[in-house]
Amino acid sequence: MKIRKAVIPAAGLGTRFLPVTKAVPKELLPIIDRPLLHYVIAEAVEAGVEEVIIVTSPGKESIGDYFRSYPELEQRLADNSDEGNLALVKEASDLARVSFVTQHQALGLGHAVLMAKDAVGDEPFVVVLPDDIIAHSPGAISQMVQVSDRLNAGVIAVEQLPWEVIHNYGVVDGVPESERVHKIRGLVEKPSREEAPSNLSIVGRYILPPQIFQILENTRPGAIGEIQLTDALVEMITAQELYAYRFQGRRFDGGTPMGLLKASLAFGLERADTREDARALLRELQGQED
Ligand code: UTP
Repeated sequence: MKIRKAVIPAAGLGTRFLPVTKAVPKELLPIIDRPLLHYVIAEAVEAGVEEVIIVTSPGKESIGDYFRSYPELEQRLADNSDEGNLALVKEASDLARVSFVTQHQALGLGHAVLMAKDAVGDEPFVVVLPDDIIAHSPGAISQMVQVSDRLNAGVIAVEQLPWEVIHNYGVVDGVPESERVHKIRGLVEKPSREEAPSNLSIVGRYILPPQIFQILENTRPGAIGEIQLTDALVEMITAQELYAYRFQGRRFDGGTPMGLLKASLAFGLERADTREDARALLRELQGQED
């Protein structure tokens, strides 16, 4: 069945990005000139998503501003025949149909997803975390949709990480199905190096069946008092198949200052309109170091 809807949780506190997140939602922090949210919505749209449901919280109204149309500005740019900027102003509102639901308290990722239950209804959907930025064409969600179609089951994205850092992540216990796919038989949040069943860490892309909502409704707060999506997935795999897909592409952690810096550098070195200047700057800075 086609994946038409994406849920994007954006109601977290963004503490790893303080102090800027006192004033700017983490999800609106930019890589060059577009916010993190923009990149993940474009990735979802490329995969066939038509409707995006963003979970926000009170105080994050500026997220809505990004998707609103600005008739006055558009008129002004049109009067000046500034087609380039006119296209940029309209880009976000034209990306997809975007709606908003509110999570009044940051009670965890699972709770945030549950807030989108009515908006999603009775169909499979994709959960996309805007702080996981994945650079690849075709995008990670497109790749996952193909796997989900083939196996007719839910699919979550995973990345192979060094064993030394695995205790910071959710980890999958799986049986190999094909080169990039494992059938999941267990999931563990932040295991110790000794207890980790693999070094396949969960990344913020999940294609899920609608049954996950009933499970989330009955999921009690787990680690650090939050309702965890991982706990609901552990419950889900007792009744339904779920697969882990090792996506093609490079992931950046846009939720931390260092991750966003790396993403900005990598994107700056890649984009046609910034590449030359970015390379020149790197050469110049390296020269100064020596
Ligand atoms: P994170 O745990 O990375 O975001 O959640 P956070 O809690 O905002 O960040 P830190 O740890 O305090 O720095 C991943 C995504 O899930 C959303 C976040 O907004 C982020 O996009 N989220 C998290 C919610 O929507 N609600 C929550 O209760 C928790």
